[in-house]
Amino acid sequence: MAADILQTPLDGRNLISRAEAHAQERWPRLLAYIPRMADPHTTSNANSPVQSLLKEDRIFPPTAAQATALGGAWCASMDEYRTRHARSIADPEGFWSEVAQDLDWFTPWSKVLEWNCPDAKWFVDAKTNICHNALDRHVLAGHGHEVGIIWEGEPKRENGTPEVKHLSYGELLEEVCRCSNALKSLGVKKGDVVTLYMGMVPELAIAMLACARIGAAHSVIFGGFPAPAIVDRMLDAKSGVIVTCDGAWRRGQVVPLKKNVDEAIALLSAQNHKVEHCIVLHRTKNQIDWHAGRDHAWHELVGAQSDECDCEPMDSEDLLFLLYTSGSTGKPKGIRHTIGGYMVYTAYTAQQTFSLRAGAGQVYWCTADIGWVTGHSYIVYGILPNRVPSLMYEGAPNFPGDDRFWEMVSRHHVTHFYTAPTAIRAFMKWGDEHPAKHDLSSLKVLGTVGEPINPEAWMWYHQNIGGSKCPIVDTFWQTETGGHVLTPLACTTPTVPGSCTLPFFGIDAAVVDENGVEVPANCGGLLVIRKPWPAMLRGIHGDRARFIETYWSRVKGMYLAGDGARRDERGYFWIMGRIDDVLNVSGHRLGTMEVESALVSHEAVVEAAVVGMPHDIKGTGIAAFVSLGPHATPSDELKAALREHVSGVLGPIAKPDMIRFTQALPKTRSGKIMRRLLRDVAAGRDSKQDTTTLEDLNVLAALRGNEE
Ligand code: PRX
Repeated sequence: MAADILQTPLDGRNLISRAEAHAQERWPRLLAYIPRMADPHTTSNANSPVQSLLKEDRIFPPTAAQATALGGAWCASMDEYRTRHARSIADPEGFWSEVAQDLDWFTPWSKVLEWNCPDAKWFVDAKTNICHNALDRHVLAGHGHEVGIIWEGEPKRENGTPEVKHLSYGELLEEVCRCSNALKSLGVKKGDVVTLYMGMVPELAIAMLACARIGAAHSVIFGGFPAPAIVDRMLDAKSGVIVTCDGAWRRGQVVPLKKNVDEAIALLSAQNHKVEHCIVLHRTKNQIDWHAGRDHAWHELVGAQSDECDCEPMDSEDLLFLLYTSGSTGKPKGIRHTIGGYMVYTAYTAQQTFSLRAGAGQVYWCTADIGWVTGHSYIVYGILPNRVPSLMYEGAPNFPGDDRFWEMVSRHHVTHFYTAPTAIRAFMKWGDEHPAKHDLSSLKVLGTVGEPINPEAWMWYHQNIGGSKCPIVDTFWQTETGGHVLTPLACTTPTVPGSCTLPFFGIDAAVVDENGVEVPANCGGLLVIRKPWPAMLRGIHGDRARFIETYWSRVKGMYLAGDGARRDERGYFWIMGRIDDVLNVSGHRLGTMEVESALVSHEAVVEAAVVGMPHDIKGTGIAAFVSLGPHATPSDELKAALREHVSGVLGPIAKPDMIRFTQALPKTRSGKIMRRLLRDVAAGRDSKQDTTTLEDLNVLAALRGNEE
């Protein structure tokens, strides 16, 4: 270890050429970037750029056959992309007013954009309703009989068949109207916040649309969260009505949603917050307590209502929903999204990114839970207006077997499949034989979201799921951005494994230093967006100061995403990890992503998380937590081989000082690795950190018990 450090200043060039030689030998497509490594002393302060050591040169241009299979490309060439993107930045008002014409408005806007940083108003004074655009518009145009949502339940019948529902736009509209009327009958009115804490049942999408129809905002809470999460969120939103289920199916077990709600309501009442009404959908039929007067059965209350309910004409800037995101510290932030801009942006990004086309036989499946923004934007609000059926699945990917997803793709003839890197790495771990058993030839577009995807996982997805013939759209975005901001367009953008490629129309993204100045190609920096876009967050509910501090203070006048990134010589963006997770090793600032990807590129490894740990000489050393594939066995020899492998790929500076094998990594319930907890484990500290968003506490206990 010490030797590495002492050598670095003296023989930086040797170090690089050795690294390069190793890289070419072992991982031919990854080359070290020589110039930035030459003088390590120049990169020694906390604000210096993050270094990039990784280069990926596999490129996958979309083919004419792929575009034909999708009914033609929305954007015919990269030249056209560049022209349209340039126009969207130079003339955002002209650009977005044209896009917005495709949707229905009850009253037109007086102005497209009013921007007073950090406050944006889009489609000023316009009146519309997002539920009208998702459902009524199709019914009025004679498409009421077409399928809007395909739903599949988790449990299977004895004969092995699952419960499946095909809900047409007409049926959805009727049930949404009944649900809207039910909410009204309980006194819910425009401007109220209704909390939705349900499993992945169609009634969740119906309840969201019902709120939108009458002008109530919704706050969806992921069904995997426990009672205290409901308490915090209902208090913050001042929400007095909740819709839930008796339970939710998850891997063959019932998650007791109603019980959690009862517990939350009791805790709330101890804080003088009254929950007046609780609507309960009976799904799992587990035993539940019933509070007469407060609790209402969905089938009775909603079932008794009229199936007609006029849409409330909503102002474009009225609140559509709150969605709480936990962030790495502090209490969850209630991200505010308003109607008009979000509606236009999610529908348009869905169409352009995934190449959606109504009436072309497409079946789109996003595997996210609606409790996350991905489900809001790309199961419900962005997909329904495009008139392509949205498949919603209730349960776990590995129930009853590890091939459940692939069996479903084949049975429903899914054309578009959108999932998270964490899921892809799990599929890799479960083995190639599961997708291989099924006919996946209906697939035309694959997507990923939620984390940087390691090039190795990208290639696995491409080959084993996409049959090497589907474009992969690696979509970078956030709860705060509302929709895709950096993304390939399926039929247009050549893709490179691990890169989310280029900005979407209207997105003026850049990688800058602390002064807001763009850094040179391949230099890491802060990812920012310099101009407003229609689906941007309109604030943190009830916390203006935190809104400004989190997103608008560090780089003046620009939206700070909180991710480190670099652009390569093509202008493609590479997300390098959250800024808070950057490793400062002997004065070199390294993103977590590249070291993790180098580990995952070793055949024994399927998943890795890297964090900094105290180190006597370097200040910070690199600790790697590594999850192995089905055919690998932990050993000291393997640790040594992995250290050498990383060194060969990225150079000795990135060599982990400590490697620990683990069955699983601590993750949030949406699948993001919780590196802040691993930092404590690596340092041998007892964590004082908040673990309420951790998916499985046992993982942490196991890691602690496994200390070297
Ligand atoms: O760190 C980035 C990562 O997820 C963060 C946003 O998380 P959340 O608000 O929960 O939304 C997730 C679904 C949109 C980002 O700041 N992230 C998301 N997508 C990508 C990504 N990192 C790299 N590549 C992506 N495609």
